[in-house]
Amino acid sequence: MEKYVIWVVLLQAILIGYAIKTGYFEENRNIIEEFDEAKEKQPYRTGFHFQPPKNWMNDPNGPMYYNGVYHFFYQYNPYGATWGNGNLSWAHSVSYNLVDWTHIEHALSPSEPYDLRGCWSGSVTILPDNNMPVIFYTSISVEGEEVQNLAMPRDTSDPFLREWVKSRHNPLIRPPSDIDPRSFRDPTTAWQKMDKTWCVLIGSQLGSDRAGILYTSRDFISWSRGDNPLHMSNRTGMWECPDFYPVSASGGDGLDTSANGEDVLHVLKASFSGRDDYVIGTYDPMTDEFNVVGVDFMDDRVQLRYDYGNFYASKSFYDAAKKRRVLWSWVLEGDSEANSIARGWYGLQALPRTILLHEDHTQLIQWPIEEVEGLRDGKVTLDIKEIESGTMLEIAGITASQADVEVSFHVSNLDGVELIDEGLLDPQLICTQNNASVNGVLGPFGLLVLASEDLTEQTAIFFRIFKGRGKHVVLMCSDQSRSSLKTPVKDAIYGSFLDIDPNKEISLRTLIDHSIIESFGGKGKACITARAYPTLAVFENSHIYVFNNGAKSIGVSSLSAWSMKNAQFSQEGSSWLGFE
Ligand code: FRU
Repeated sequence: MEKYVIWVVLLQAILIGYAIKTGYFEENRNIIEEFDEAKEKQPYRTGFHFQPPKNWMNDPNGPMYYNGVYHFFYQYNPYGATWGNGNLSWAHSVSYNLVDWTHIEHALSPSEPYDLRGCWSGSVTILPDNNMPVIFYTSISVEGEEVQNLAMPRDTSDPFLREWVKSRHNPLIRPPSDIDPRSFRDPTTAWQKMDKTWCVLIGSQLGSDRAGILYTSRDFISWSRGDNPLHMSNRTGMWECPDFYPVSASGGDGLDTSANGEDVLHVLKASFSGRDDYVIGTYDPMTDEFNVVGVDFMDDRVQLRYDYGNFYASKSFYDAAKKRRVLWSWVLEGDSEANSIARGWYGLQALPRTILLHEDHTQLIQWPIEEVEGLRDGKVTLDIKEIESGTMLEIAGITASQADVEVSFHVSNLDGVELIDEGLLDPQLICTQNNASVNGVLGPFGLLVLASEDLTEQTAIFFRIFKGRGKHVVLMCSDQSRSSLKTPVKDAIYGSFLDIDPNKEISLRTLIDHSIIESFGGKGKACITARAYPTLAVFENSHIYVFNNGAKSIGVSSLSAWSMKNAQFSQEGSSWLGFE
């Protein structure tokens, strides 16, 4: 027995000696240290938002549902974390549920004289006759002109449509002589009229007007310019990434882009000056007349905007599997370019949202797609009836840096609130002048997220109630002014009016994912997306509180919160070789 023990000890000593000599322990320690360091350096990578493994990402391009698979393409620079003029490609990812993604081969990269300086944004249309998805995209030619081109999958029996072939007819549309060749881009998904004509809009400008230029075609190859732009405005910046689609005026489902009829209104969205504004109107396919009903672009202080925060170059698609219209959008970084280069990546996509027309037809309602709820884990509820003036309560027991919170407030009496003239004031300005630390009568009340324990870092999403011109007005704000001790963030406070009756529920859903905070007020009537770069409130040192800094107490009808699991991402194909 003794002999046996001696042998075992000797063998162990030999193994340990060998391990020390070959650096086994050293290597493992290094791996652990590297992991910790990576974690420390990458507190801003998200757990359930769409991100490529590395590098620059901007606009969503050509999202679609095709033969059981969701496809997502996006503007991508394969060579670095900056926009990298000249290298833009269409990266491509596929999913069965819009949450978990596999990054596959890039669909389009610059290769031809007409697209050598970049494959820019565009859309996908599924041609019904042969069930063929086609990409319509803008490219920058060697001469620097913005031209429109077509690409098709090489093999539609490949469920992931890995390979795309550029049409030999490219470029299909070149900028006409009265249009600046550097402002002619981003074709919409095409819609087909009863007489089989295809129509598409291209973002552009005509003299001092910014416009959606209409083009029509019978065969998707030869396109002619319509007599008039579908719509224009002399108050906006250049229209990038226009989107034009029908919405049902009788509620319920989303509609295919070519749908039209009695109970249908149309939404026209344009991206300009860092924001995505939309108008609602009627579209007559016989005359191609689009007439805005209600607020036009930049008409008023109260413009219709998908999101009053950081949200740009969005694109929607019709998801035939669930009969819904889904919206994707790019979310920019808010810190410096040098930080993005150091991190090795730039840009996120907001959670895909379902869009519907509100029953009063004056605005859209947006809500994270239902699949996101599948990531919820470990529900926590706070059983409180009210939150008194000057108090805050922690929502403990969840991973606060990766969470989903739903809270519903109510107020019992609106007497004594401050007066404002909401017609004269910009909501963002009111939120900036009255940030989360300025006490009012009813408000600020809401959530503090990505907050450090000592509260030196915090992002506040909150409401205030005012007496406006004829009625009470609810203001929703997202205040990033204290979100980071180190990194200055651009445009740090966002705001929107929330068109709800403050005598009823005032609801807020906020999704927090390390460096992005997406908030939905009034069940999706006002949305604000923000970025935050906390230095203390990261990972397990992040907290969430519900707070009320107004003079009056606020009722709480319900408060539930969940930890959010990670979405699953993987890579396949040579485009991603070397990426972890
Ligand atoms: C919008 C945009 C588009 C263009 C693309 C280039 O962010 O400027 O107009 O096609 O990005 O990446």
